Amino acid sequence: MTRDTDVHGTAGADDDQRPNARAEDVRPDGGSEERSSSNHSRGRTPREEAVDDVALDPWGSSAVSDYRKLFEQFGIEEFDALLPEVPDPHYLMRRGVIFGHRDYRPVLDAMRNDEPFAALSGFMPTGDPHIGHKLVFDELIWHQERGGDAYGLIADLEAHSARGLSWDEIDEHARDYLLSLLALGFDPEEGELYRQSANREVQDLAFELGAEANFSELQSIYGFDGETDVSHMQSVVTQMADILYPQLEEPKPTVIPVGPDQDPHVRLARDLAARTRYFGVTEAYASFEADPGERVLLARAHDALEDRENDGTVRCVDAAEWLEGTDVDDPTDALPSALEKLHAAGKEPLRPRTRFLDRNATDEAFEALIEAVEGEKRVYEAHIDSFELSREEAESLAREVEIDHGGYGFLAPSSIYHRFMTGLTGGKMSSSIPASHISLLDEPETGYEKVNSATTAGRETAELQRELGGEADKCPVYELYAYLLAGDDDEFAKEVYDECVGGERLCGDCKEQAARLMEEFLAEHQEKREEAEGLLEELDFELDSRR
Ligand code: TRP
Repeated sequence: MTRDTDVHGTAGADDDQRPNARAEDVRPDGGSEERSSSNHSRGRTPREEAVDDVALDPWGSSAVSDYRKLFEQFGIEEFDALLPEVPDPHYLMRRGVIFGHRDYRPVLDAMRNDEPFAALSGFMPTGDPHIGHKLVFDELIWHQERGGDAYGLIADLEAHSARGLSWDEIDEHARDYLLSLLALGFDPEEGELYRQSANREVQDLAFELGAEANFSELQSIYGFDGETDVSHMQSVVTQMADILYPQLEEPKPTVIPVGPDQDPHVRLARDLAARTRYFGVTEAYASFEADPGERVLLARAHDALEDRENDGTVRCVDAAEWLEGTDVDDPTDALPSALEKLHAAGKEPLRPRTRFLDRNATDEAFEALIEAVEGEKRVYEAHIDSFELSREEAESLAREVEIDHGGYGFLAPSSIYHRFMTGLTGGKMSSSIPASHISLLDEPETGYEKVNSATTAGRETAELQRELGGEADKCPVYELYAYLLAGDDDEFAKEVYDECVGGERLCGDCKEQAARLMEEFLAEHQEKREEAEGLLEELDFELDSRR
């Protein structure tokens, strides 16, 4: 695949679901562009803009130039908006390292109400686990400590198919990931660890989910083309199965903590989860279907007329006439189509109702749902209208019937996204550039040295630094404090920050302190890894690949 050429050169109109297409093409609202950085507004060509746009590519560069664009252009939501509701938030949440999410609220609600929820993430065993992976290990462990079912998986099929690693290499790295995850506190008795290739249930689920996705879709999402091998595609459906695996026994809110490069996978998994559902639940006002914009108008007309009509019946034509004679707010321009539908329905009464749509249900399941809807209802060819159930009640009833009849009843999976760490040499932190990252297996002294020779955002001279202060926000070494070295100690993190920007902390001493802390962290972590060896051997985990 020649991804880069695709991104910058050929992203066309029919590519607009691709995460690596020009990002503004995939804005969910399709609205006009509101540029956040000034250099965008100066009449640049679309091609120049394309180069600057954020691409989310699971197998490409994991650098993100501007996190704000992920909110505007991909519909990732800001984590900060939920932060006040998170019980005892992790320091990565408090410090904005976890910056975004997709639909995290159901997980949060379950956590707060002591209801079941799960957290799952996966690791491609392509190299040593490093301090960037630690972020995800910590996130899994945090959710586990708050009562979630936690899953850590080794994406060996993906490493083999998408990255071409041999099974021997994979086995070696897999072990290292698991030891670090255990050393950091993952409880394997409470949680589950598996490798994709050895999990039959995941494979079976992958096969089922594969029936809901076709090649054109993978092409538009991932840029796959005629050269993409089939096993790589299979690794995608395997990841879809990983993401939904925690819900196999019982549907539950599930969070997938990952870097934002994995968002295309999360979106596809959310789609596939919906496609397997037996029933859809919507709201309606008459026998016809209405989109959300139309429904707002129908609701206005219904509410306005309900009181006026003596016998309590509002007819569709009356609603049409009322809408024609009233100046209603219509942001989505739904009025013409709403009027058309209302006129066509004529004398039919306009009454709010909850609607069950038959999507993938078996005949028996549809019959069973008809039986299960209590109170006044109307049954049609492929839908059932209930006049008494709320939307929420309808959704849980639909799920119940689905599960009773052999369906999965999946909830859409949620995600949280962390910032990528900056490489110690500037640029991005990369597993393939040893000096750019600190491996969790690095000798403590090596860690010390890497930090001591890291790039900082200090000024040219000590004098200038005292005068102007350092630029902690741009400094890879400050990042080390915030993401790892300060641990839970917010005061310490703040002190480092304030001293730096205040010009009291100079880079030499600051790095020395960071290097020492890193050395201590690595020594302690590696001790815990050794202790975890025994635990790992006892686990029911296939450490040696079958091939
Ligand atoms: N694709 C992920 C990576 O590149 C690994 C992975 C496989 C994963 N299955 C997953 C991540 C499920 C999260 C959830 O590292």
